[in-house]
Amino acid sequence: VPADVERAFTETIERDQRVEPRDWMPDGYRKTMIRQIAQHAHSEIIGMQPEGAWITRAPSLRRKAILLAKVQDEAGHGLYLYSAAETLGADRGDLTRRLIEGRQKYSSIFNYPTLTFADVGVIGWLVDGAAICNQVPLCRSSYGPYARAMIRICKEESFHQRQGYELLMTMMGGTGAQRAMVQDAVDRWWWPSLMMFGPPDHDSPNSAQSMAWKIKRHSNDELRQRFVDMTVPQAEALGVTLPDPALRWNSERGHHDFGDIDWVEFKKVISGGGPMNAERIAHRRRADEDGAWVREAAAAHAAKKRGARS
Ligand code: ACO
Repeated sequence: VPADVERAFTETIERDQRVEPRDWMPDGYRKTMIRQIAQHAHSEIIGMQPEGAWITRAPSLRRKAILLAKVQDEAGHGLYLYSAAETLGADRGDLTRRLIEGRQKYSSIFNYPTLTFADVGVIGWLVDGAAICNQVPLCRSSYGPYARAMIRICKEESFHQRQGYELLMTMMGGTGAQRAMVQDAVDRWWWPSLMMFGPPDHDSPNSAQSMAWKIKRHSNDELRQRFVDMTVPQAEALGVTLPDPALRWNSERGHHDFGDIDWVEFKKVISGGGPMNAERIAHRRRADEDGAWVREAAAAHAAKKRGARS
């Protein structure tokens, strides 16, 4: 690579400008971006399942319309992100194959079951809240198509978070049984939500390089702390307890202290051994197989058209 080409890339990063698809970039940068964007896209697509399971059982027409819109947004985010990965030379079919063969990861959070309708609210509040916390800084990520995708995605995530919180507020104003249902969902989702931010900084192999390339703007632990600080007052307003006896305000640090995360559980879930991993992948595989004839027909049609033109 000529020195001036490499320098142009470095200067783009230093000046906080965006790297665009046709620009030269180091192989490692391209690989890292494809990895992160693909994992993110897979998370959106797999993330349709836990809540999608409640669409037919939503308690009212209003709740059903909201949930349908939300799950459709997630499909949109996934497709949008696969397109961003394609600008780096990735092949969408190949990415899907890697997902269903367990060769590419998706977020740990979607490997837990949704047991009651309160889970829909808690996913909106905590899971989408954590997603926003992680993704707002990615609007300034150094790869242009990814950063721009994040702007739209974050707007829709804000709606998702608000619908979740509003649903929980409504349930907390209901019967004792409804309040207990919300508390139970909070107890089950709190720790997995903290795991969404990834391993602790000292055990995060990709962080240093991704921060140097300005793909990531904050470390995993920084964003996790931001999420805890943001969520504690929301839990108080809602009237639920976060299941962590070590959680308290530390006036010296100006942040909340919190208890130890179970990293053994995290590692198990991201290597395929979580409660719902097998089911999530089996469902995605089925959908891919069921849709194969559509892709084949579209390809045959495109080939025929090309033939007619030449
Ligand atoms: N679930 C699954 N895998 C994870 C998670 C998680 N919560 N956190 C980290 N990992 C994986 C990393 O992808 C990496 O895997 P790999 O190297 O085998 O590919 C490994 O664990 C080590 O982690 P890090 O070195 O910290 O990885 P990275 O620098 O990529 O940081 C992070 C992880 C913070 C998730 C980053 O990739 C990111 O910000 N991604 C974009 C956001 C995203 O994907 N969100 C999806 C869930 S939110 C939603 O869809 C509602």
